[in-house]
Amino acid sequence: MVQTAHVTMLMKRRTILKQVGAAVVGAVANVGPAMAEPASADAPSRLPDALAPYLQNPAADGMTVCFLARGASGVRVCWAVAGGGPSETDATGVPIPGTPWTRWSARIAGLKPGSVVSYEVFYQTDGGIVRTPANRFKTLDPAAPGVRFAVFNDIHDQRATITALCRHFKPEDCDFVVFNGDMFNDPSAADGARKVFELWDFYIRLLGGGCRPILFVRGNHETRGGFKDRLNHLFQSPDLTPDQPPAEQLWRFDLTAGPAYLVFMDTGEDDGPETPEDSYKAPKFWQAYRRRDAGWLRDRLAAKPWGTRPWRIFVSHIPLHNPAGWFSIGSRDAWLPPLREAGISLMLAGHDHAWKVLPAGKEFSIAGKSGATDKPDCPVLIGGGPSMKEGTVILVDATRDKLTARMLDASGKPLHEFTTP
Ligand SMILES: [Fe+2]
Repeated sequence: MVQTAHVTMLMKRRTILKQVGAAVVGAVANVGPAMAEPASADAPSRLPDALAPYLQNPAADGMTVCFLARGASGVRVCWAVAGGGPSETDATGVPIPGTPWTRWSARIAGLKPGSVVSYEVFYQTDGGIVRTPANRFKTLDPAAPGVRFAVFNDIHDQRATITALCRHFKPEDCDFVVFNGDMFNDPSAADGARKVFELWDFYIRLLGGGCRPILFVRGNHETRGGFKDRLNHLFQSPDLTPDQPPAEQLWRFDLTAGPAYLVFMDTGEDDGPETPEDSYKAPKFWQAYRRRDAGWLRDRLAAKPWGTRPWRIFVSHIPLHNPAGWFSIGSRDAWLPPLREAGISLMLAGHDHAWKVLPAGKEFSIAGKSGATDKPDCPVLIGGGPSMKEGTVILVDATRDKLTARMLDASGKPLHEFTTP
């Protein structure tokens, strides 16, 4: 009896794989990426029981498909490389504590660099088997002639600002999108962290997170709020796992794409040397955290993972240099020596809320610190936010010959363009 049920189940799975496989292969061959229903800035979403799938942890040989659902089981990803037959990967579910949600994820591995992969997620509910619209992604290609990405920071939940910024570029032109901190304003655990899931659902749909990964860098406001320690259930990067307690969360990561090497560091809270030890900003915790990450950064950069790539880009939420005084002294002191040795081409940051550009080698005074000056070795672009007036998107386009970073405001006005020939 058990055996008969098992065989019936297997046959059912095979039929589904065949049907879904045909659709997925068709999607690779014939159509562009299916987008989930577009996001609207005006109406906070009423959450369905399953959010649109999204991509995390991109690599040259793989990608993770994530899927947030309530009441789903048997979640699988059916996928096909362009020109190839269908495959299926089971997703692993991790319940997110204090919420009704489970984060399912399936690593599609063993791919070639620059592979175009079409996929659908299918899952069991009380009403039967459900499948998501076909999506399509491309793996990173370290040998590609170029790479393009968009960077947002300090949106602080303001859907109207990021919606306006998205009118001035096409997410489909980007290999990935970077969230450089304070995109979630003090993520709340109230009501099963409802606001966090609503906002993430909105961001996925706005940016087509099922077709290009959104790389998440924490800002100081993502280290606050009742849900802060569980954000590692939503996002994935090479060393980050959902079971890590706060002090052991490994948010920093790096990657190579086309002619660029990027390293993403977690500056944590915006404490400084003057922050009292008993402050909610927990300066002792964060100093130890940054020192730990400094060891990783030093070892990583010493291995020169950029190879022959001309561009090395450093990304952090809190800038390491800032004339307004809003910079992370702890991160700067711990991280600048290995960064200087590596030779960074461009630093991208946020936190300040007023956008600014610091040219390489130009000395400036630091506000509020009498006589203190600073001078970055490379250009620093600090994006603004969250108001419509201050919000920015930074569009980076790297080819072997030049690195271009354009900063636009919500009206589409170019605020700054930086090119290194
Ligand atoms: Fe910030």
